[in-house]
Amino acid sequence: MIRKMIMSVCSVSVVLLVAAGSAAAKSAKPAKEDPAKRGEYLVMVGGCNDCHTPMKMTPIGPMPDMERMLSGHPEGQPDPASTLGKNDLVASGPDLTAWKFPFGINYVRNLTPDKTGLGEWTEAQFIKTLRTGRHQGEGRALLPPMPWFNFGGMTDEDLKAIWAYLRSIKPIKNVVPDPKVPPPVLEQFLKNNAAIVDIVINHKAPPAPPPAAAPAPAAAAPAAPAKK
Ligand code: HEC
Repeated sequence: MIRKMIMSVCSVSVVLLVAAGSAAAKSAKPAKEDPAKRGEYLVMVGGCNDCHTPMKMTPIGPMPDMERMLSGHPEGQPDPASTLGKNDLVASGPDLTAWKFPFGINYVRNLTPDKTGLGEWTEAQFIKTLRTGRHQGEGRALLPPMPWFNFGGMTDEDLKAIWAYLRSIKPIKNVVPDPKVPPPVLEQFLKNNAAIVDIVINHKAPPAPPPAAAPAPAAAAPAAPAKK
């Protein structure tokens, strides 16, 4: 009997301890996360390094060269030499920072806080760039393969966190060339990007496809002249 009582007292105290522990866990407020830390995480899962950091070959395959983290297409590097075949969409250079498309060549840009990168940008310009697909939010159209529309749908808070992180990284001096793309193509991309904003970010229905061409009347095929 006494033994039974001791056991039940023990189990009551275990229950109380557990209850006290979970109450303490509930009342502990999560510490406010440092925006730059969250930005670092978003840059990692957003794959920014996969394009904005030059790749180098390693024993386990091509990896971003973190000594040049987010510094973009290296200044002075020759353009991709290959000519595109009729089934090729793109050719690239030794580190995947230049993209030669049938419409021209585009270079991955420097996102570090040096003035050759985003040093002179404001947070508002950065956010507007990703929301509109235009350089600094009002300049030329951003060209493929920058997936700005995927990031443009993020919350203000997340985009500000990415900005805070990009401000905190090592500045690297590296002037990236402007795209070698003819002005009419840039004009067309401005229109394309505006349409993409509506579809991907504002969730508007895509424009209706042009009415299907009326089927050609089945013209009587001229009878083949009978072979003699
Ligand atoms: C698939 C490749 C790719 C990925 C992934 C990518 N970018 Fe880009 N990004 C590019 C290319 C290429 C350009 C250049 C576009 C141009 O000049 O038209 C660019 C341009 C930009 C620009 C515009 C800079 C300017 O000078 O106008 C910003 C800002 C940017 N990227 C931020 C990011 C961020 C932040 C991430 C990750 C969250 C990211 N990018 C992920 C390829 C990529």
